Amino acid sequence: MTAWRLTARRAGSLKGTVRAPGDKSISHRALILGALAQGVTEVEGLLEGDDVRRTAAAMQSFGAGVQRLGEGHWRVEGRGGFAEPGDVVDCGNAGTGVRLIMGAAAGFDIASTFTGDGSLRSRPMNRVLKPLGEMGASWICRSGGRLPLTLKGGNLKPIAYRLPEPSAQVKSAVLLAGLNGQGCEVIEPEATRDHTERMLRGFGAEIEVREEGSGRRIVLAGGQALKGIRVHVPGDPSSAAFPIVAALITAGSAVTVEGMLLNPARIGLLDTLGEMGADLSVTNVRDEGGETVGDVTARHSELEGVEVPPERAPSMIDEYPILAVAAAFATGRTVMRGIGEMRVKESDRIALMAAGLASCGVEVEEEPEGLIVTGGGGKVRGGGRVTTHGDHRIAMSHLVLGMATEEPVTVDEPGMIATSFPGFVALMRGLGAEIAEDGLQPA
Ligand code: S3P
Repeated sequence: MTAWRLTARRAGSLKGTVRAPGDKSISHRALILGALAQGVTEVEGLLEGDDVRRTAAAMQSFGAGVQRLGEGHWRVEGRGGFAEPGDVVDCGNAGTGVRLIMGAAAGFDIASTFTGDGSLRSRPMNRVLKPLGEMGASWICRSGGRLPLTLKGGNLKPIAYRLPEPSAQVKSAVLLAGLNGQGCEVIEPEATRDHTERMLRGFGAEIEVREEGSGRRIVLAGGQALKGIRVHVPGDPSSAAFPIVAALITAGSAVTVEGMLLNPARIGLLDTLGEMGADLSVTNVRDEGGETVGDVTARHSELEGVEVPPERAPSMIDEYPILAVAAAFATGRTVMRGIGEMRVKESDRIALMAAGLASCGVEVEEEPEGLIVTGGGGKVRGGGRVTTHGDHRIAMSHLVLGMATEEPVTVDEPGMIATSFPGFVALMRGLGAEIAEDGLQPA
C-alpha cells in the first residue's frame, strides 16, 4: 500500500454557503489567556485542529482545568497562573502555540520543556528567546535555538523591545511574559495581528496601544490579574481563503463563507484579490465579541496580475500560497515581494509554492524574499504531484489549484491539513469539488 495522498480534479462549478472553522490565532489565545486568568473561560467556535488541541493539552499540563463541552465548545478553569508541568510539553506542528506558551511560562518561577514535530523542531525559536532572555529568562536548547528546549522563568525585568521582524507571535510572547513580570513595551515597525492586545483587554487587563507611523507601540503594566470571560471565536480568514479562491478560479462558481473575521490586520488577501478584479462582496458585517465579522461571497472572476505592496505582507502572510494559486489563473504577472518570513513557516513556503506551481506548468520566479507568478489567463495545465513537506497550507493550496486545472493535482501528507482545517475535504466536496484519496491513511 502506498502512502496516503489526495488528488483534486476539475468537476464543474462550486456552489454553496459554508462556515470557515474557528480562527486559529484567536483559538490559541483564548485557551492560553483562559489558563492564565482566574476563574472560568468558556470558548465557543474553538478551532478543533491538531495545533489548538495541543495548546489545550499544554494548558492542562500547566495546571488549568480544560474540558470539551461539545463541538467547538470548551471550558477552561484558570488558576491565575502557570504551575510547573510534570512532563515535556509537545506543541505538535504549532509555532503560535509554542511561542506564545513560552512567553506566558517565562513569567513564572518554573522550568518547562517544549518539543514539537519535525517541522516545529526545525523552526527558529531565537526570535522569542532573545527578548525573553533580555527580561531574565534562561534556557537550554538545541543549536540554532531549536526545540527541544527547557525554559526557566520568573522574576522578569521590564523591557522595551523593538521587533526586528514583523511577528505577532514574538509580540505576543513578550506581552504574555511582561504581563506576569514587571510589564513591557513592544514597538512594532509594521502592524501585525492584534488579537493578543484585544483579548488581554477583554480579560480585564489595561493595555495602551499607540499608532506610530505604519506600526504601533504597545505598553502593558506587569502584575495584572486576568478574569475568565466568554470568547466567541470567529471564522478564520486564513482558512476561508481556500473556498474563496477556489470559487474565483472555477468557472460558474459562487460561494459564500459566513462569519469570517474581518480584522483589518488579517484581510490583506481580500484587498489584493479585489485589486486583481475578483468579484467579492461582504455582507452582514457585525461585531462579535470585540472583532468584526461578515459573510464573504466570491464568484468566478477573470483576474489580472498585480504587484502586491510589500508592506501588506503582515496582514496576509499565511495567504501568499493561495494567492499564488489565484495568480496562476490571472492574466499577467503577480509580484509578491517582502515575504521572506514565508521561508520560516511550517515549511519554506516560497520554495514549495514555486516547485509545486512549476510542476503544474505555471511560470514562476523565486527570489530570496519574493515570488513572481505569470498567470495562464484562466488556463493552467496542472498534473503535478506535489511534495508538501507536511505543510497544511501548501497541501490545501495545491488541492484548490487542482479544482480548476486541466489535469488533476496530487498532494502528499494530506493528514497535516487537520492542523488548521480539519473539515477541509468534506467542506470542499460539499461545494462540488472532486477530491479523491488513495494510499493508506495513517492511524
Ligand atoms: C500568528 C502569527 C503569524 C502567522 C501564524 C499565526 C499568530 O506568524 O504566520 O500562522 O497567531 O500570532 P508570525 O508572527 O511568526 O509572523
